Amino acid sequence: MFKGLRPIQYGGREVWPLIEGGKGVAVSNHMSSGAWAAAGGIGTVSAVNADSYDPEGKIIPQIYRTLTRRERHEELVQYAIDGAVEQVRRAFDISDGRGAININVLWEMGGAQRVLHGVLERTRGLVTGVTCGAGMPYRLSEIAASYNVNYLPIISSARAFRALWKRAYSKAAEWLAAVVYEDPWRAGGHNGLSNAEDPLQPQDPYPRVKALRETMREGGISDDVPIVMAGGVWYLREWNDWIDNPELGSIAFQFGTRPLLTRESPIPDAWKQHLTELDEGDILLHRFSPTGFYSSAVRNDFLRNLEHRSERQIAFSLEAAGDHQYKLDVGVKGKSYWVTRNDLLRAREWDMLGFTSALKTPDNTLVFVTPEEMKTIRKDQADCMGCLSQCSFSSWADMEGNSTGRLADPRSFCIQKTLQDIAHGGPIDQNLMFAGHAAYRFKQDPFYSNGFVPSVKQLVDRILTGD
Ligand SMILES: Cc1cc2nc3c(=O)[nH]c(=O)nc-3n(C[C@H](O)[C@H](O)[C@H](O)COP(=O)(O)O)c2cc1C
Ligand code: SF4
Repeated sequence: MFKGLRPIQYGGREVWPLIEGGKGVAVSNHMSSGAWAAAGGIGTVSAVNADSYDPEGKIIPQIYRTLTRRERHEELVQYAIDGAVEQVRRAFDISDGRGAININVLWEMGGAQRVLHGVLERTRGLVTGVTCGAGMPYRLSEIAASYNVNYLPIISSARAFRALWKRAYSKAAEWLAAVVYEDPWRAGGHNGLSNAEDPLQPQDPYPRVKALRETMREGGISDDVPIVMAGGVWYLREWNDWIDNPELGSIAFQFGTRPLLTRESPIPDAWKQHLTELDEGDILLHRFSPTGFYSSAVRNDFLRNLEHRSERQIAFSLEAAGDHQYKLDVGVKGKSYWVTRNDLLRAREWDMLGFTSALKTPDNTLVFVTPEEMKTIRKDQADCMGCLSQCSFSSWADMEGNSTGRLADPRSFCIQKTLQDIAHGGPIDQNLMFAGHAAYRFKQDPFYSNGFVPSVKQLVDRILTGD
């Protein structure tokens, strides 16, 4: 057993302080989370548009039958509740009473509160806690406490926790089971970088977690309430100084990327295979997500395409003014757009290369795409089923009027479509492949040599050795 690592009390049981991070869409499901719990840790079922099954056990494709976004949003919420309930029940069976099962939601997903209520209502006694990040989940504590379930907020700074604690969590303090510190420069999936933080200057997690502990102490929270370190955790021996350290209090560890490569991980084999081929620097922290958050994913053709699209971008005015003295004569029909001379020349070049359609962005710029890309963008925007509370790509908003009031942004993409596709066997180079920045370590770690893919139990046992 690795030095100093001891089981913690969670949900009235002893469990290893090792958590499988929740991963949507359909990436941490009953198989992975049930197995993680069975190995003695805390498994997390993703309640973000989870899969349901038909009577033969086949995944039910989430097909939308209604005509408006509002109606499709309702269908989506129903799919999400049914899927998560099914996943929790199966995970609980697999866990066989060992470890614990949590669920994960994103606060900024469409209908998040309704999904939480719907799932917790139908899984009483099965779920030990809810992890939730992506936004400021003020009402998380109240909802979890109303079902006698723990909550574990995911934050990326002490400041965010202080605001949540003061405004809401202090009123349901007994159900706060842990605080997850997710390193915004290193973790896979969406990242909580604030505007004040430089995406190119990763900060050491230690002082940030120490500050979080100090903030928790100011709120009167016991040092026995663990801080869960998430993001870039690989070998526990590299976190030696964190364990049994009075400055930090109780510490647990969350793994998101490592459990992707296990036998129980439901992602397609091509995705697993690709993980073993990555090099350092192949993961990109970027800002294309329609949520507006930063996120980390493999820099594949899908992401490169978005990078290039944003590079084929020029500012315009609707009348000749300042530097914008040249009328654009490619990409647009009818309307007059005035641009700089240099941008006119660039636009003509893109046009010659086949990027013959210019699309307006909410920032008074135009991006140049091929006619096929334009068709896909328009179709994806029209097919929107309202999976987010606010979406920059389609302008959908989960409120009166169902619009953000801003122009739909062609520099982004439909995250629901792409995450569903990659999880269910779509091409791995043409979809968003979330991964943490330590994913390159699969290639170097001798545990995975000769193509070895461990079971979840083998992975947890390996982690417990310090490796
Ligand atoms: C494929 C993938 C999907 C993820 N999806 C979610 C999610 O839906 N909700 C969430 O809170 N975190 C999500 N995460 C973050 C993980 O739960 C975890 O905190 C993170 O991956 C830890 O960092 P690591 O990738 O370095 O292990 C995701 C991570 C990955 C790799
Ligand atoms: S367009 Fe935006 S809100 Fe609509 S389904 Fe896609 S990602 Fe979700």
